[in-house]
Amino acid sequence: MVVGEIKTLIFGAGGMLGTELCAAFPDAVKLRHNDLDIRDRVKVIRLIGSNEPDVVINAAAYTAVDDCEDNREQAFDINGAAPGYIAEGCARAGAELIHYSTDYIFDGSKKEYVESDTPNPINAYGNSKLMGEKNIIKNMDNYRIIRTSWLYGAHGKNFVDMMLMLSGKMDTVKVVNDQFGKPTYAHDLARKTREVVMMPAGIYHITNEGVCSWFEFASAIINNAVPCTSGEFPRKAKRPKYSVLVNTKTTPMRHWRDALAEYLIKRKTMVKL
Ligand SMILES: NC(=O)c1ccc[n+]([C@@H]2O[C@H](COP(=O)([O-])OP(=O)(O)OC[C@H]3O[C@@H](n4cnc5c(N)ncnc54)[C@H](OP(=O)(O)O)[C@@H]3O)[C@@H](O)[C@H]2O)c1
Repeated sequence: MVVGEIKTLIFGAGGMLGTELCAAFPDAVKLRHNDLDIRDRVKVIRLIGSNEPDVVINAAAYTAVDDCEDNREQAFDINGAAPGYIAEGCARAGAELIHYSTDYIFDGSKKEYVESDTPNPINAYGNSKLMGEKNIIKNMDNYRIIRTSWLYGAHGKNFVDMMLMLSGKMDTVKVVNDQFGKPTYAHDLARKTREVVMMPAGIYHITNEGVCSWFEFASAIINNAVPCTSGEFPRKAKRPKYSVLVNTKTTPMRHWRDALAEYLIKRKTMVKL
């Protein structure tokens, strides 16, 4: 089967990754938040049934990690229950599901995590996303759950843009140097998703290659970052110290530094326009 010939439906098409998926799957039916709330089980199942897709891609999620602590019900409804409804719809329609999950399902007590490692989330967001994974696996077989980490891209709030903004306003920007992960360019992940559609069902860890701390990541973006500890920069949601996802199932994507360099050039061009 050729990806271009597959009938695809995208939920969350207006988000950071969703917008890149729309470019990677140009012929897909694209649904944004204002087209459909994925918490509406009946509508979700009906919509999947009426479109008869071969593949459904779910990039819709409640991604504000700190806000999830205060809005747990919303987080669990969107990230936990709704993926189960989408899976139900896919199972009934005989469609494959591609769904995105996160490095934050792990607790950071290990230095790196393969796909078969046992999750143990330490914040509400991670717990809600893990519930989403479980509901999918309970409701269907033909799923590909892609766990990714530290996403940035041209179409949403993200760390790279935040660093550039703060750098211009402040003499120095404090960034934590004791949390480690793998920055991932949404554009690369969307392109890679085209390959995953053709791969066997299961859980995948897909990120750009290379591990860094948030401070090291920031230092590749701006020249006035200074390191600090997580203790000096308290957040509402706890973060794992290590959330390094190891990909044992697919060919690796390029190094995060190469992807970042491309994004920074692209961003300059976009700002000028
Ligand atoms: N961002 C990261 O660093 C990161 C890291 C690891 C994994 N992930 C995962 O990667 C996926 C994509 O993330 P992203 O960064 O692209 O997220 P994003 O930019 O926040 O996009 C999520 C989209 O979902 C929509 N949405 C929220 N609630 C909805 C609902 N009830 N019904 C329908 N649509 C709804 C949002 O619309 P509104 O904006 O209108 O609410 C938004 O367009 C998510 O599964 C996320 O958990 C992200």
